[in-house]
Amino acid sequence: MSEGPILSVEALHKYFPVRNVWKRRVGWLRAVDGVSFDVRRGEILGVVGESGCGKSTLGKTLMGIQAATSGRVVFEGHDIAGLKPHQSRKYREHLQYCYQDPGASLDPRWTIRASLHEPLVVHTTLPAAEREARVREILAAVGLPETHLDLYPHEISGGQQRRVGLARILTLKPSVVILDEPTSGLDVSVQATILNLFLDLQRAFGLTYLFISHDLSVVRLVCDRVAVMYLGRIVEIGETEQIFSAPRHPYTQSLLAAIPRIGGARVTDSFALEGEPPSPTNLPSGCRFRTRCPRASTICASEDPALTGDVAQHQAACHFPD
Ligand SMILES: Nc1ncnc2c1ncn2[C@@H]1O[C@H](COP(=O)(O)OP(=O)(O)OP(=O)(O)O)[C@@H](O)[C@H]1O
Ligand SMILES: [Mg+2]
Repeated sequence: MSEGPILSVEALHKYFPVRNVWKRRVGWLRAVDGVSFDVRRGEILGVVGESGCGKSTLGKTLMGIQAATSGRVVFEGHDIAGLKPHQSRKYREHLQYCYQDPGASLDPRWTIRASLHEPLVVHTTLPAAEREARVREILAAVGLPETHLDLYPHEISGGQQRRVGLARILTLKPSVVILDEPTSGLDVSVQATILNLFLDLQRAFGLTYLFISHDLSVVRLVCDRVAVMYLGRIVEIGETEQIFSAPRHPYTQSLLAAIPRIGGARVTDSFALEGEPPSPTNLPSGCRFRTRCPRASTICASEDPALTGDVAQHQAACHFPD
């Protein structure tokens, strides 16, 4: 059976205006700058990269929380990128975004019950009793006791807030969930239980995940494929094992070299990445990684490399890939 991708992203751009003190636009911040990839049904696709490279902006733009500047987002057969929020609502119900900061998605004045009922009130016409039944079912699925329904967000732990955030999304029976830094700020033992919960829920509800994280060890553990972002672009994408055992882009190699290791050899002998990336308001010509790249040569300043390689397995955007 060959099924098409569940989510297909084509040349997606999200630019933010940069304004001077008189509110005049003086330039653009290119947060997502021409990103294309497919998400296969049932997979976990990781998105990694340094802080500020555009991971959250990518997630929010896919979700329509922010309007795309240009490009296509085809979800379950419909291009939702160009639609107004009210037009796309019925398509986006099955595409959900789980916020980087779980506290931000929960209203401090609402009980957990009210927070869990709200998406159902907004998106469905279910009567109250059926809503309550669905809420209780999902609460059990994320491993929280029913007594938590009457608590407020500040009365539960960070790990439990994550579970509530996830439950809120699951009430709408999504097919694709964008998880933005789902384990950041949790201690290691809680991280492990939350990761197992994601995997259990994936099986139970047939979910597909876009897993945004800067924690490469976690990504290696749970993702089927990984996309590496640098300054608003995907510079390498492929099967997780390919990316970790034979990275082709110097940026990916430097990210992997930075993972601390206990015993064992490093995956690569590459250089460690130094300094800050250039500003997304003022990108270098040609390859945007060249200012930090040990392999940079004249062609890198004049030509912007496209992703090349085997689309199904492993692609890198570099003039001199390994
Ligand atoms: N609403 C906004 N208005 C203007 N600029 C923004 C906005 N949101 C994000 N940016 C800018 O876009 C770039 C990408 O930000 P984004 O939050 O997507 O990064 P990130 O990869 O998620 O980083 P982190 O790992 O720190 O969460 C940054 O330079 C950021 O300052
Ligand atoms: Mg982010």
